[in-house]
Amino acid sequence: MASTLITGANGQLGRSLRDIAEKLPGTLHFTDIGELDICDRSAVNEYVKANDIDLIINCAAYTAVDKAEDEPEVAGRINSGAAAILAEAAKENSALLVHISTDYVFDGNGPRPYRESDSTSPASVYGKTKLAGEKAVEESGCRYIIIRTAWLYSEYGNNFAKTIIRLAQERGMASVVFDQTGTPTYAGDLANAIAEVASHKDDPEFHKNGERRIYHFSNEGVCSWYDFALEIVERAGIKTATIKPVTSDLFPSKASRPAYSVLDKGLIKSTYGMTIPHWKISLKKCIDSLNNNK
Ligand SMILES: NC(=O)c1ccc[n+]([C@@H]2O[C@H](COP(=O)([O-])OP(=O)(O)OC[C@H]3O[C@@H](n4cnc5c(N)ncnc54)[C@H](OP(=O)(O)O)[C@@H]3O)[C@@H](O)[C@H]2O)c1
Repeated sequence: MASTLITGANGQLGRSLRDIAEKLPGTLHFTDIGELDICDRSAVNEYVKANDIDLIINCAAYTAVDKAEDEPEVAGRINSGAAAILAEAAKENSALLVHISTDYVFDGNGPRPYRESDSTSPASVYGKTKLAGEKAVEESGCRYIIIRTAWLYSEYGNNFAKTIIRLAQERGMASVVFDQTGTPTYAGDLANAIAEVASHKDDPEFHKNGERRIYHFSNEGVCSWYDFALEIVERAGIKTATIKPVTSDLFPSKASRPAYSVLDKGLIKSTYGMTIPHWKISLKKCIDSLNNNK
């Protein structure tokens, strides 16, 4: 009986996967650290074996980018060590591991959208530990698909979109950087992309050609955080709010962030025949959903 393990299932992406559970294959096991600590090798091995898991979707991560500068060991244990543990369990059970990574593996000095084959050069502890996680998965010998994503937001948890709405409502203004460029990713769209990828897990064609690869996924389009914030308040109907464009030097942060981190999604689109919505369309969807659940 096919069985899927989703780790970090209380996070943004994990909760978005719960929303589309009917699109995921087999019996579903949604777990977070309370049910399964992915840093615990024997617990992971036992869980995967006992539940006959043949697909692991790893949404668990240490995602506090600035805090990671002060806690490199903790970030490394979750983002890299646990990725190795999951990959080892996947290999032993002939399971497919779908592992999520980040645009922070790049330094952000690129002249064009990043392709999967571009050389990596993370500038932060978070980016370094995520890259080490990718390498651990690649070197494990398991069946894997790594999906790098960027600027993730959703109805859940804390994220940029929800922060801007709160600041606009409470203070009537927010200062937002316009010198960092990328593309937002609605977690609901990433969840659908993962379901699409997972639906091919038993297809021999994809087994041979679509696996053991890195893919890039974000929404379509390009913007600065400032453009993103403007669209958020517009869509949320907060007409009185002022969004002020500022440069990054006004917001000194512990971790260095890529100035340019647009991802080229050509490979995932051509491999899986995917159509990806423009970021503005998905932002509207997310804000409508937030408004409906008020
Ligand atoms: N957020 C972004 O902008 C962004 C951008 C690019 C890529 N990504 C990647 O996308 C993926 C999903 O991100 P997200 O925003 O959904 O993350 P998230 O909201 O921070 O969720 C991660 C979940 O993993 C859990 N977790 C932490 N340590 C664990 C452990 N040892 N065992 C089991 N669960 C554990 C967390 O629990 P606690 O909350 O209790 O720690 C949390 O529920 C991650 O791989 C992330 O690196 C995110």
